[in-house]
Amino acid sequence: MVNVLDNQKKNASVALPPVIPQHIGIIMDGNGRWAKARGLPRTQGHHRGKENLRQILESCVEFGVKVLTIYAFSTENWERPVGEVRVLMSILNLVLDQEVKRLHKNGVQVRHIGSMDGVDPRLQKKIMDACEHTRDNDRLVLNVAFNYGGRGEIVHAVRNIMRDGVAPEDVTEEMIGRYLYTGGQPDPDLIIRTGGEFRLSNFLLWQGSYAEYYSTPTFWPDFDKSALLEALWEFNRRRRRFGMIDEQIDGHQTGN
Ligand code: FPP
Repeated sequence: MVNVLDNQKKNASVALPPVIPQHIGIIMDGNGRWAKARGLPRTQGHHRGKENLRQILESCVEFGVKVLTIYAFSTENWERPVGEVRVLMSILNLVLDQEVKRLHKNGVQVRHIGSMDGVDPRLQKKIMDACEHTRDNDRLVLNVAFNYGGRGEIVHAVRNIMRDGVAPEDVTEEMIGRYLYTGGQPDPDLIIRTGGEFRLSNFLLWQGSYAEYYSTPTFWPDFDKSALLEALWEFNRRRRRFGMIDEQIDGHQTGN
């Protein structure tokens, strides 16, 4: 007898599952290994990774995802060889030069999450211009996590709360959420990591508390629309309890 889940999996390359996450986070890992497997320099992997971004972004728009957060450069990535850091910076420059018009046309709002510390002032300006240019779009919010670290983000939020003179007893989880770079956005429902590792690597630490985590061995440059659909089907198989028990969830779903 054919199992229902097998059937769903078989259809993964064509059909859209019933529940689409509002917010997806992606750790785009495996560019270096993708390149190495082909005898190419690591930086070629990043270039292919950049190309891949377009189809995943367009698929998210098509599927009705409201927020997509991509981990483009972590605060720890400064430790990489200087040449590789330079290439990653130049790729963001290229993306901003080549893609903003198309993103704008597709109703995508670009947002930067992370710090500008250490980022070339010209690149800083390009990032800010792209955010400004697309600020009124509401089809999909693209958070570019660039020079981003989840712990640093929480420190940044706490500092601003203190600067605003908030009394300790008035600090709430909701308030901390509002002071994060993603303030006002829904938390991620699904965090995808390509490249086979099972780590969060300082990505959306606060916001990802109740996200479903999905790891695939596929390297980022090969993670295509059908691979995304497979992740969405897997998300649909998960049962999200948010700390409750099954009976309570059923009650919520039926409005009891
Ligand atoms: C991790 O792969 C990937 C990154 C550190 C950068 C991700 C960048 C892109 C996908 C290009 C798009 C970039 C921007 C700025 C929009 P890795 O190098 O750690 O791969 P490995 O684990 O195989 O070595």
